Amino acid sequence: MFNKENHPLNELAFPDTREKWRNAPVEITAKQLLIDGHPVMETWEGAYMKRLASIAASRGGVVLEIGFGLGISAAFIQEDPIAEHWIVEANANVFDNVLKFKDKHPNVKPLFGFWQEVTPELPDASLDGILFDTYPISLDELHTARFSFFDEAYRLLKPGGVFTHYAGEVEFTPEYVKLLHEAGFTEFTGDLVEVSPPPGCMYWDEKHILAPTITKL
Ligand SMILES: C[S@@+](CC[C@H](N)C(=O)[O-])C[C@H]1O[C@@H](n2cnc3c(N)ncnc32)[C@H](O)[C@@H]1O
Repeated sequence: MFNKENHPLNELAFPDTREKWRNAPVEITAKQLLIDGHPVMETWEGAYMKRLASIAASRGGVVLEIGFGLGISAAFIQEDPIAEHWIVEANANVFDNVLKFKDKHPNVKPLFGFWQEVTPELPDASLDGILFDTYPISLDELHTARFSFFDEAYRLLKPGGVFTHYAGEVEFTPEYVKLLHEAGFTEFTGDLVEVSPPPGCMYWDEKHILAPTITKL
C-alpha cells in the first residue's frame, strides 16, 4: 500500500493541482491510462467496472458517471436500457474522448470540470443512478476522494436511486459506514468482485474488491 512518503502524488501536491490536472497530458496504452504519468486507470479493472456499471444502471433512467478514464464503465452502462448518461470529466484530453463517445451514444450529456465545480449546479433528486470513479489528484485527497462525494450523492439521487463507486475496500469498514450514515444512507450491500491486478499495480494488490450498492431510501 502507499504511504504519503512514497506516493507519486507527492509531485502533484502543490496549490494549483486542479489547473495542472485539467490540462495535463494523457497517454493511453494497451493496458492503462496515464495522466501526467500517473497510472489512473488499468484494464484489469474491466470486470469490476462491469459490475459497478450494472449497479449504477440498475434503475434505468438518468445515470451520472463521474470520471470517464478509459470509458470502460461508460461502455458497460450503455449496454443497459437507460434514458440519459451524464458524464463529468476533469481532464481536457480525456474529455475529448467523452465527446467522441457521445457521437456513438446520443443519450450522453458531457459535463467538463471537476465534480466539485459541476455537480452543485445539478438539481436535487434528479438521478436514478450514480457511478463515481475519480482519482485522488492531491495527497490530501488520497484517502478521502471517494468519501467526500457521499453528501452530494445523497442530495442528487431520487428516492430509490442507487449509488456505487470505486471502493478501494473489501468490506464496509466502520469509518466507511460512519461516513455513509452521516450522508444519510442507511441501506447498503456489497459484493466482492474477483480481480487480478498485475504485480506492481500502484493502487490495488488484492484478489477481490468491493462493489457497493448504496440506495437512497
Ligand atoms: C479511474 S479513472 C475512471 C475510470 C473509468 N471508470 C473507466 O472505466 O475507464 C478517473 C477519471 O476521473 C477523472 N477525475 C479525477 N478527479 C476528478 C474530479 N474531481 N471530477 C471529475 N473527474 C475527475 C480523471 O481525469 C480520470 O479520467
